[in-house]
Amino acid sequence: MTIAFIGAGNMAGSLIRGLQTSGTPADKIIAADPAQVQLDALARLGIQTTTDNAVAVDAADIVVLAIKPQITGNVLKQLPPLQQHQLVISIVAGIDMRSLQDWLPNKQPIVRCMPNTPALLGAGITGLFANASVNGPQRHKAQDILNGVGSSVWVSEESQLDAVTAVSGSGPAYYFLLMESMVASALALGLDAETSRKLVVETARGAALMACEPNADPATLRRNVTSPGGTTEAALNVMQEQGLPTTVDNALQAAKDRAETLALEFGSEA
Ligand SMILES: NC(=O)c1ccc[n+]([C@@H]2O[C@H](COP(=O)([O-])OP(=O)(O)OC[C@H]3O[C@@H](n4cnc5c(N)ncnc54)[C@H](OP(=O)(O)O)[C@@H]3O)[C@@H](O)[C@H]2O)c1
Repeated sequence: MTIAFIGAGNMAGSLIRGLQTSGTPADKIIAADPAQVQLDALARLGIQTTTDNAVAVDAADIVVLAIKPQITGNVLKQLPPLQQHQLVISIVAGIDMRSLQDWLPNKQPIVRCMPNTPALLGAGITGLFANASVNGPQRHKAQDILNGVGSSVWVSEESQLDAVTAVSGSGPAYYFLLMESMVASALALGLDAETSRKLVVETARGAALMACEPNADPATLRRNVTSPGGTTEAALNVMQEQGLPTTVDNALQAAKDRAETLALEFGSEA
């Protein structure tokens, strides 16, 4: 099974390292990118590289699109026609299935994915959606590839990928904002910058680890650490009274709406 990457940037590099960690031989991976400097970085992993996208896809069983949205249409239109057995996996944000299908041969098997930035550290979560041409083994292979940079979930309708974008795609930034706000508050409470940063970041790590335990439920975890009349309750009461759940709800809805709009911007009907 040969896997070709179109685009040899950050995400391609992480996916390739994930594949190698799970045992894919280097000679079964090829990456294409017009930038030789990007290819040189990946060539050090022992994989094949080329500046010609057509060469990369020629003998590939799987073609991974890891390029920017704004060039995706042109790149796909310039590829030689793919064979029906070649699975296309797109991690391109905001390019919908209809556009991919318009730019690729009829009935091409395509899996559209929405990973998130922690994938660069092997700690991502990816939403996947397959079109009707994707068979069972291809679904497994696509999921294996994305699981190399974290974990994954399938969605049954493409519109749910916009919800995935709003929750996990943009999600790391929500936690960063909360951490940023907590660091600022820690400083205001009289702690120094390094102590504040360490307390906030390690608290986030600890809370995330607790929430990742099997069967852990955030609401139960929150109740368990909230003693009646205690300090945590005092803080959570302020967050509730000042509408944090509503703010989060409105924010995720705005992200989903924006994902829908962006899909129109660089798609085949733009
Ligand atoms: N990074 C993330 O956390 C993340 C998360 C979710 C989704 N995504 C999506 O994943 C995709 C890749 O993201 P990335 O962060 O890996 O971007 P990136 O580092 O910019 O990688 C894209 C690569 O494509 C190359 N490229 C440009 N024109 C090309 C062409 N005609 N043929 C082949 N390759 C070409 C670029 O080269 P130049 O630099 O020379 O232009 C660059 O090396 C994007 O669509 C992004 O939306 C990324």
